[in-house]
Amino acid sequence: MRILFLGDVVGRAGRNAVVEQLPRLRERYHLDFVVVNGENAAGGFGITEQILIELLDAGADVVTTGNHVFDQRETLIFIERYERLLRPINFPPGTPGKGAGLFKARTGAEILVVNVQGRVFMADLDDPFRAVERELEACALKTGADAILIDFHAEATSEKEAMGHFADGRATAVIGTHTHVPTADEQVLPKGTAYISDAGMCGDFDSILGMDKEEPLQRFLTRIPNARFAPSLGEATLCGVAVDVDDQTGLARAIAPLRLGGRLSQAEPAFWLEGA
Ligand SMILES: [Fe+2]
Ligand SMILES: [Fe+2]
Repeated sequence: MRILFLGDVVGRAGRNAVVEQLPRLRERYHLDFVVVNGENAAGGFGITEQILIELLDAGADVVTTGNHVFDQRETLIFIERYERLLRPINFPPGTPGKGAGLFKARTGAEILVVNVQGRVFMADLDDPFRAVERELEACALKTGADAILIDFHAEATSEKEAMGHFADGRATAVIGTHTHVPTADEQVLPKGTAYISDAGMCGDFDSILGMDKEEPLQRFLTRIPNARFAPSLGEATLCGVAVDVDDQTGLARAIAPLRLGGRLSQAEPAFWLEGA
């Protein structure tokens, strides 16, 4: 089974890249399951119902989020109507929406997706490790799910690596999001879990984290806010990872980065084309 995960979609540039490229990618690489982090899809801040539908229609099976999930107030309401939209599981009890779900891949396999947020240099949410432990106990690999994907939305690479090793051998993949810059440390950990510290964003890389560079730069220089942050609108790079899953064990055989279009474009990962 082959799974694609796309990192934080930032603004219209990122959305356009997903809508234009994902349908083709699903076909070309025989993707069985696609997860997209949509926390910055609406002008860089949160997600609207219409944008969620756009991402689902483009081929996302599940849309995950992060600290920006409720930047658009409407999300507090519509999140309850969409099984396929997740928010971090370790928000306070009673927060609208869900942080995990079991979803069907194209092959019929049952995939557990867990969205969880880090606490280092971020809001003081409930313990992400305990939250993941509870999910892995309730729905273990092979007995409860054929594959388990964890979107760990966190700032610190130390916390992300710790989560990778914490879940190693128990999840198919631990994929970092939130920092928007793709890292080069994709690997299959010793016990079989695919890992990357950050998948990178789907957004314009002639920017500061996907935002028009002028305002953030001025704030660093002067400490005075002058305008709102606005997403950068140049051609986006579609950033993510593909994970090849061993259907017998539910663990990962390989992980490869995908960077298509825009300024960070790379050659397509060779193993993707096997059998294509
Ligand atoms: Fe983000
Ligand atoms: Fe974030």
